[in-house]
Amino acid sequence: MTTDLLTPVLTAHWDEPDSYTMAAYKRHGGYEALPTALGMHQDAVMQLVKASGLRGRGGAGFPTGLKWGFIPQGDGKPHYLVVNADESEPGTCKDVPIMLANPHVLIEGAIIASYAIRATHAFIYVRGEVLHAIRRLQHAVDEAYEAGYLGRNILGSGFDLELVVHAGAGAYICGEETALLDSLEGRRGQPRLRPPFPAVAGLYAAPTVVNNVESIASVPSIVVNGPDWFAAMGTEKSAGFGFFSLSGHINRPGQYEAPLGITLRQLIDLAGGVRSGHELKFWTPGGSSTPILTAEHLDVPLDFEAVGAAGSLLGTRALQIFDDTTCIVRAVLRWTEFYAHESCGKCTPCREGTYWLVQILDRLERGEGKADELDQLLDISDNILGRAFCALGDGAVAPITSSIEYFRDEYLAHLNRGRCPFDAAASTLFAAPAQQTPEGLAPDAPGSPAAETPGAETPPEPTAGPGSASDD
Ligand SMILES: Cc1cc2nc3c(=O)[nH]c(=O)nc-3n(C[C@H](O)[C@H](O)[C@H](O)COP(=O)(O)O)c2cc1C
Ligand code: SF4
Repeated sequence: MTTDLLTPVLTAHWDEPDSYTMAAYKRHGGYEALPTALGMHQDAVMQLVKASGLRGRGGAGFPTGLKWGFIPQGDGKPHYLVVNADESEPGTCKDVPIMLANPHVLIEGAIIASYAIRATHAFIYVRGEVLHAIRRLQHAVDEAYEAGYLGRNILGSGFDLELVVHAGAGAYICGEETALLDSLEGRRGQPRLRPPFPAVAGLYAAPTVVNNVESIASVPSIVVNGPDWFAAMGTEKSAGFGFFSLSGHINRPGQYEAPLGITLRQLIDLAGGVRSGHELKFWTPGGSSTPILTAEHLDVPLDFEAVGAAGSLLGTRALQIFDDTTCIVRAVLRWTEFYAHESCGKCTPCREGTYWLVQILDRLERGEGKADELDQLLDISDNILGRAFCALGDGAVAPITSSIEYFRDEYLAHLNRGRCPFDAAASTLFAAPAQQTPEGLAPDAPGSPAAETPGAETPPEPTAGPGSASDD
């Protein structure tokens, strides 16, 4: 789909059946950036990426050219490029599609980035479960070797590059860049103390750039079209285009490639609206580790600055949409179970804290909690935020604190009724339309007609004790 709002660059030819082959990539100008880049001085390539304003697409939004510039030059050490394709955050689903639909754009980007940072070895670390993507990527790498784009003396430039596709064992923490490096070296993936940062002592203690798949895949188009072309899209501080991955209660879920700064309202329009007959209740702007937002944030420009000002993070632009059939406590419990499972165990606040958060949320969701446990959730979250060894801990508490901020009443409704007021089946994507109507909700679900009618149902004796707030 092309509209003025969308800027299909990486996705431009995904609808062609052979889009993943070298032939298709070259048909549309693929591998034309490579001779241009190899004909430039390494520093000029770095400068070009800096000038484009490209910021890392892996979550933190660190300027890509600046990161490349941190690699010490003339140090006599080997340098490495590591492409982070671990993609495991709930909701994030853009890097695997890039590798499936057009692996060559990633390979071309990796060759150019390696040249710029003077690396002769590069690795693409792919989440182990996506074997189909690994196979396709490996096949594309083989094609690139055969065509002389990888290996020795690439295109007669004198530049050599070995590119290795490495399958991880399937751990979310191995997406954290230093845990990834430990895993790549053959150890258990756990974050490293920083400093030193990977740019100084990364893979095998040598200077290393770690970049996300989408960041690296964006590089060939910047080389071909120039930094001004890229910077003309997006906003002043959040330049360019990016993937917006819509999932959940939306009529046309999928990848929408658009300039940064587009709003969720515009994206929902492009995606055919929220599930028919329903309203947006809450959403994540960048995966489950970014604080949730609500319908009042529909017009927030989706760039790093504006989403930050709205109290969340742009993250990976994984827009998970939840309509009014969703129980917030249940959704947050599911995410927290994920973080507790994926906690690597290295530091106490996250290892112990995520375990206890799950226990409390599970009780609350079943309506068996106590009112003071809401404060306990916040207290434990406070002891994790900023005190854990890596950002997994901070991410784990983001859905909890933000959901209590926006939906405290709904937590209390569970306590006061002694059970979840929602019909869990109504929020499933396969729910029959009759189940999805507001009448299909449990009669006392917040927002359901009965819930608005005082006395429609006699709530069970509150378990929360005196002082607990009203639920509706
Ligand atoms: C728990 C955790 C998981 C992460 N997972 C990924 C991932 O799967 N892919 C990714 O690119 N970055 C991930 N990151 C961010 C990386 O540490 C790193 O910032 C990123 O790869 C840098 O690339 P960029 O500058 O191109 O964005 C993760 C961070 C944390 C804390
Ligand atoms: S915050 Fe969690 S994932 Fe990160 S080091 Fe500590 S225990 Fe491991």
